Order: sequence, then structure tokens, then C-alpha cells
Amino acid sequence: MSHQLTKQIIQWYKHKARNLPWRNTTDAYKIWLSEIILQQTRVNQGLPYYERFINHYPTIALLASASEDEILHLWQGLGYYSRARNLLQCAKIIAENHQGTFPADYNALKKLPGIGDYTASAIISFAYNRPYPAIDGNIIRLISRLFGIFDTPYGKESTQKIKSICEELIQHSPPAIYNQAMMEFGALQCSPKQTNCSICPLQAFCYAYQHQQVELLPSKKRKTFVKELYFYYILVEYNDYIYIQKRENNDIWKNLYQFPLIQKEQSTSISSISKEINVLLQINDFSITHISPIIKHLLSHRKIHANFIHIIINENYELKGYIKIKKKDIDNYAFPQLIRNYMTKHL
Ligand code: ADE
Repeated sequence: MSHQLTKQIIQWYKHKARNLPWRNTTDAYKIWLSEIILQQTRVNQGLPYYERFINHYPTIALLASASEDEILHLWQGLGYYSRARNLLQCAKIIAENHQGTFPADYNALKKLPGIGDYTASAIISFAYNRPYPAIDGNIIRLISRLFGIFDTPYGKESTQKIKSICEELIQHSPPAIYNQAMMEFGALQCSPKQTNCSICPLQAFCYAYQHQQVELLPSKKRKTFVKELYFYYILVEYNDYIYIQKRENNDIWKNLYQFPLIQKEQSTSISSISKEINVLLQINDFSITHISPIIKHLLSHRKIHANFIHIIINENYELKGYIKIKKKDIDNYAFPQLIRNYMTKHL
């Protein structure tokens, strides 16, 4: 049965798979890079990022010699910037301690920054054809439906069940093609909504199809708590100049740039914010020229309500902790997507 199942999936894959650049290679560098990008975004959005990284850094040694600013800049827009920082750290370790080659050892791979179960399995199966099942969201959905697994996805029980099913399935196939085929089948055929069951080659194997429970599986994930935050970005303009700062906090936007920021846990009136501008920037004589409407931005655990407050100053201040740059040079710096979206329309 397992053999028949994987045979069908691989057969389907050979006819229907998308032609993606990281599939026609066993170069662990390219595979690793694609997987890190694809953890962050869908294939269509990830492709141009992948091409840009490979064009800038054709080898891991070149990537390892890049600065963090350069990497963050190329990563800009993908979000979750700790992945970009880990990318650089990992490249440095591979270049310096592993002669530029990813180890063909699962446990050694997992010790590298940014590499967990999924990525280690993807690298070792795609690059070295070793039988480690890479289990992503697509495969969790596929297996939950095929085998009728109702436990909460990502919970301990369902994770263990799905892992042992996949470990069994991969024994019956060439590992690299098995993992690619499972992912692709989950992404294209066994999709989250509007499933293509009527043309599915796995009808005979599928618990959910046979019990009319496709829409119910996988079970819904428990909701995470989302904290609301209120951000007031101050765009301090002086002639052709604007002030920015590098975020040092050890959070998801670490080392990205931003405008001076007043951060609150409650919505706050502009007159209070105006008083705080005096304190934050140590300036008295400024005038507010524009206040943006509230812009909402959702992160995995945060909902940000942002206002951009434009002020002009008439003296050429050096504001302590901030960098004064020409507005036209602003694209040379990596900003969180929230700010980047605003700037493309308003600066
Ligand atoms: N998503 C994550 N890894 C992938 C891969 N190798 N191919 C297509 N989509 C993916």
C-alpha cells in the first residue's frame, strides 16, 4: 500500500511538477538558500529573491563575505529578518569550518543557525539523497487527509504520527524525488481550499476523500495571542534630508533601519505624542506638516497600528542616536516592510 501510494505521487510529480531552479541541482548551497527563502514566502514570490541572491552570491563563500546590511537589503520585503541574519551566520560557518560544503550529516546540519528538522531533512534528501522526510505545511495537510489525522497540527501527537508515516513512506522511494513530490502534491493538488479531489489520483488511498471530510482536515490550529501595539513614526525632514536610526533591539527587526519611533501599548493622542517628540529628539522648534491615517500591519504575534507623523525642522540638527541621510539615498537602507510600503507612496 505505501509503495503504491508513493508510486502514484511520484508519477503525478513527473507530469505536473513546476520547473523550479532549485530542483535541477544537487548543490546544497542552492537548496539551502531556496529552502530558507521558501520558509518565508510562496514559490512565486520567493523566486525573484532566490535569483537575486544567486546572482549576487553565486557561491557560499561570496555570501559569507557579505555584510549584514547587504543581506538585509536583499532580504527586504520577505519579513522575519532573523532568518536573514541566520543565513549569513550559517554561510560564515560553512565557509570557515566546513570548507564551503554543507555536511551530509543530519545532526551536524541541525547545529547550524536557522536549520531545524525541516531544513536539515530538505538539504540532506535533496542534495545527498538520504532518506529523511522533510515535513512542511503542505505535507502535514496531505498526510492528515490521507490518513485521517485529527489531532491539532503541530501538536506533539500529530507531529509524531505524521513523522512516523513519512518515515515509512520514504523507505519506498528515492528520497530526493519523494520529498519534492510530496511537497508539490500538497501545494498544487491537495490544496488548502477548493481541493481538486475529482481529479486526484489518490482517491483510493485517501481517508478524507472517502469519508467526505476533506474540508475538515487538517484540524484548525489553535489561535496564537496577538498583541496590539501603536507605533508613531516621526519623519523628521530638513530640506532634502531625513533622519533614520538602526534598530538595535534584539527582535525581529534587529539591525533594520527605521524613523524615530514612539511606541505605545495604547492608542495615544497626537498632542501627547507631540510632547514626546520634544523629549525623544531634544528639539522644540518643529512643525507637524502631515499625519498619515492609521496603517495596520499584521505580524505573527503582533498587530501594529502605525501613524507616520511628518515634521519639519529649520535648523540643521545632529540628532543624537540618529543618522541624517539624503532622502534620495533612502533605498540604500533596509527597512521593515511596514515602513517600506509607506515610503514608496509618500516619500
Ligand atoms: N517549498 C519549500 N520547499 C520547496 C521546494 N523545494 N519546492 C517547492 N516548494 C517548496
